[in-house]
Amino acid sequence: MRGDDGYFDERVAARYDESAADMFDPAVVDPVVDFLVELAGSGRALELGIGTGRIALPLAKRGVPVHGIEMSKAMVARLRAKPGGEDIDVTIGDFATATVDATFSVAYLVFNTISNLTTQAAQVACFRNVATHLEPGGCFVIEVGVPGLQRLPPGETARVFHISETRWGIDEFDVANQGLTSHHFEIVDGRVERFSTPFRYAWPAEYDLMAELAGMTLRERWSGWRREPFTSDSRKHVSVWEKPPVPE
Ligand SMILES: C[S@@+](CC[C@H](N)C(=O)[O-])C[C@H]1O[C@@H](n2cnc3c(N)ncnc32)[C@H](O)[C@@H]1O
Repeated sequence: MRGDDGYFDERVAARYDESAADMFDPAVVDPVVDFLVELAGSGRALELGIGTGRIALPLAKRGVPVHGIEMSKAMVARLRAKPGGEDIDVTIGDFATATVDATFSVAYLVFNTISNLTTQAAQVACFRNVATHLEPGGCFVIEVGVPGLQRLPPGETARVFHISETRWGIDEFDVANQGLTSHHFEIVDGRVERFSTPFRYAWPAEYDLMAELAGMTLRERWSGWRREPFTSDSRKHVSVWEKPPVPE
């Protein structure tokens, strides 16, 4: 049974940075931070699902005050143990509903984490929750994969997304319900460990509708943090929705 930490419990948190080592590479992190610094301007940033601080710590180092919302105390303990980690405020809770007594010029949800909300209702609630935390003219940024259905052969429900000497990943689709379970198998200390997480995938247009329900409009959509064009072949998108500025 899942505890209060959700899927990122003590066992997962202990190995998170190592398992996601490629995502901590400065070549991956720096463009994200550059993008967010620009949007934050002189304001504050809110990270939903702050985790161990992969993005929040370098962003704070660039002078942007960051507040996190995070369900997993185990992940936050890893953030706290890093240099600068004690200085970042974190609200423990579900980012679809948790509130923070502040407003922000940018809120962001990276690394497919919107899909950790496994119902449409929870994803809509998340957009609405973000909108209430944004200043007028503030932005909500999401980085999430485009559903990989074109790579799923007809009649199949599973697709391998990673193979290496010590790690294997298989995505299992439930197409009727826009559901996806990512199964990770890894050799740790000579034993195979399994970690499976459920996701709800959605097309970019559905997120646009969620944004509209929350009173925000699409401002930019790219296939990467360096503002690469979003095309029919893009595997992910970086989308920015804007809360309307106060009318003059
Ligand atoms: C894939 S990790 C990303 C962590 C960090 N943002 C990064 O980029 O490395 C997803 C994080 O979101 C958190 N999370 C997932 N669903 C959540 C929810 N509904 N409310 C709060 N945190 C959540 C998890 O505990 C985990 O720390």
